[in-house]
Amino acid sequence: MKQIAIDASRCIGCGKCVKDCVASALYLSDGKATPREGCIGCGHCFAICPTGAVDMPGYDKTGCDAITPMTAVDSDTLLRAIKSRRSVRQFKDVPVEREKIGKILEAGRYAPTGANSQNVAFTVLGDRQDEIERRCVRLFRTAVAAGRPFVSLLRNADINDSFFFKGAPLVIVVSGHDSVNAALASAYMELTAGSLGLGVLYSGFFCGCARLDPKIRAALRLPKGHKAVTCMIIGYPDVAYQRIPPRRPPRVNVLPRK
Ligand SMILES: Cc1cc2nc3c(=O)[nH]c(=O)nc-3n(C[C@H](O)[C@H](O)[C@H](O)COP(=O)(O)O)c2cc1C
Repeated sequence: MKQIAIDASRCIGCGKCVKDCVASALYLSDGKATPREGCIGCGHCFAICPTGAVDMPGYDKTGCDAITPMTAVDSDTLLRAIKSRRSVRQFKDVPVEREKIGKILEAGRYAPTGANSQNVAFTVLGDRQDEIERRCVRLFRTAVAAGRPFVSLLRNADINDSFFFKGAPLVIVVSGHDSVNAALASAYMELTAGSLGLGVLYSGFFCGCARLDPKIRAALRLPKGHKAVTCMIIGYPDVAYQRIPPRRPPRVNVLPRK
């Protein structure tokens, strides 16, 4: 896909796109922005151009016409909401609306990725959820009975039939070549789900099962080279928290002067 195209009749030669291009893939020629090789398709030129002279052919640009700055979100409210977020392990038997799923996926799509690789995938388990959970439960019971590898965390745990997905209506596995990209996408998705009244649990145990069992990996049909980085269990919470739990102080290291 050709990444960008400049409409020379609109370009005023201000150089803003040239200055902001991380890949130095634009230069000014005869007072007009001109693309060269190296573009990573990040869209900074598209976003910054004061006259709309930059196009990204082949992309759906619905909703790309105006921005909402983060400052539109009150920082005290945002921080308190972040601190009030809890992992949810009890869910109502109510499906998540398609529109809300769309918003959650949109948040993941817009999380930053290294070099704008956008190499993150979102796998919705859908009709396969119960069957995959049954396999995980069998595997886990066997592994725990054999005393490995999760035993200390599970000493008192009841590995019941809904141990992994907790009866939640929606499970999304976020995968990528790179764990950081997929984890960042997951965090954006989690916060968006919270703002929609939904609760989320990350199932690290599920990702452990996917690592252990090739059949679970095969059932997920992840893109080539992807690993399951997070497994997000999502639904309407059947639990309400009343206060913010305390946390250890942050470990902040300020480097001493030389
Ligand atoms: C990567 C990751 C994996 C997790 N895996 C599980 C899991 O498999 N089962 C579970 O009950 N909780 C899991 N959790 C939830 C943590 O136990 C939880 O975040 C932590 O106890 C703090 O509670 P809070 O999220 O409510 O602040 C996971 C959390 C993260 C970030």
